[in-house]
Parts: sequence; C-alpha cells; structure tokens
Amino acid sequence: MDKRPIGVFDSGLGGLTVVKELMEHLPGENIVYFGDTARVPYGTRSNETVIRYSQQCIRFLLSQDVKMIVIACNTASSISLDIVSKVFDLPILGVIEPGAEVAVASTKNKRIGVIGTQATVRSKAYEKAIRHLDPTLSIFSIPCSLFVPIVEEGWSDSKIALLTAERYLDNMKNEVVDTLLLGCTHYPLLQDTIGKVMGPSVRLVNPAEGTALEVGRILRTRGIYNNDKKEAKYNFFVSDLGDKFKDIGGSFLGKEIKHVQKIDIEKY
Ligand code: DGL
Repeated sequence: MDKRPIGVFDSGLGGLTVVKELMEHLPGENIVYFGDTARVPYGTRSNETVIRYSQQCIRFLLSQDVKMIVIACNTASSISLDIVSKVFDLPILGVIEPGAEVAVASTKNKRIGVIGTQATVRSKAYEKAIRHLDPTLSIFSIPCSLFVPIVEEGWSDSKIALLTAERYLDNMKNEVVDTLLLGCTHYPLLQDTIGKVMGPSVRLVNPAEGTALEVGRILRTRGIYNNDKKEAKYNFFVSDLGDKFKDIGGSFLGKEIKHVQKIDIEKY
C-alpha cells in the first residue's frame, strides 16, 4: 500500500482524457496532473525537444513525490518513453503499448488504422508496438494535425470537424480497417464525428482505457496501490495559466476543474 499520488503529464489539457479513465478505473488513487500548456503542441516538434520537455515534466512530478508516472501524451510516449524509462528510477508507463494491445485484441480482419499527430505517426511507435504483438497485421497510419485545434476550439461536433475527418480518413476507409486507434489525447472527443465517417463496423480504440487498466496491474504487482478508503485527491498544475484549461479541461475530464496552479517548468 502506497498513498503517494500517480503523476500524469501531457503537452497540455488533452491528457485529462487519460486522467478521466484513471479516476474511473482507480478511484482510490491520488493524482497529480501536469499540463505543459506554455509549450503545447508537442506534436509538431523535433524528437530532441520532446525528450527534453518530457524529462522536465517528469522532474516536476518527482518533486511532487509521485509513486509512478503516466505519460498521457501520445507524442511524448512515442518519442521519449524508452529514454526516460532508462533515466528515471520509478515505473513509467506510456499510452502506446496499452493502446496497441487493445487494438490487436480487437481486430478480426487483421487491418488496423492509426491516427495521431505528425510526430507520433513519424515515430512509428504504434506500428512497432502492434507488430511486436502480431507481425502478421497490416497497419495504416495517417497524421491528422487539424484535429487538435478543432477540439480545442470546441468544434468537435461541428460541420468543420466532419468535413475535416472526411478529408483525412478517406484513404483510411479505402484500406478497410476494422479497428482505428485514436492515437492522440484529443481524438476521443471526436469519437462521434470519426465514428460517423468510418461507419459502425469500425471499432474506435481510445488508448486511455487500456492505459488505466495497465496502471492498475502495475500498482497491484508492485504492491503500491492505494486502498485507503478516503476520497482521492486530484491536483492540477500547468506551465501557463490560460482560461482554456479550466473551461475546456472540464470537457476532457468530464467534470469541473476547480483549482489549477501555475509552475515554472523551466526550473526543472
Ligand atoms: N497531447 C498530444 C498527443 O497526444 C496532442 C497535442 C500536442 O500536439 O501536443 O499527441
């Protein structure tokens, strides 16, 4: 039993979709969330920068005495997980492997689609994780850069979102995938729109859910879960305090965010 919080970080507010799943699946766990809102997006940056940013996020979370770290950002998970796992001495989980596992278990026709930021798609991290589990699968990846700003503008269910999804996913439909991995923190908010475009026969996989289940397994295996019956505490930190975090953050999390604290990430 370990009452210390789980540390979660993301390039901004998108990682709250992962916090939402953690809250649902592990209601007893305290959580410290850091959103790097001053330096979002990570998805268009170089590997070198994403690795440096990820290390700073982790050092900040360590200062909050966390017992494990979840990299909620698909881009940061794709690019920095291998490196930071070697540098830091605590369990660190990204969203790629748990997402890949669910997708592999879901596909019947052995054809999986992956959508994500440019950096995530360029890294081929999902492809590698999927092939590692089953080398016989066919994988089709497409970067969908406009989805993040569309969601942050609050336009997830608009005509603009639908037209954009149609444009991006036209080729994906031609590949007749039966499973589509939503490889970016923001895409679960576009689930209805993407579902309309892909059709009911395509299963949309949100890696956040598999990630929450895997966090539970890690905590139990290591004996560091929190079975304290007290109400869990959630603390939210950001590197820049715009209005957006509280306003849109609530829709990512599915509940109101009452208090957010700003920190100087460059100090870490
Ligand atoms: N959180 C990022 C991801 O999941 C999306 C936003 C960004 O580009 O930083 O890849």
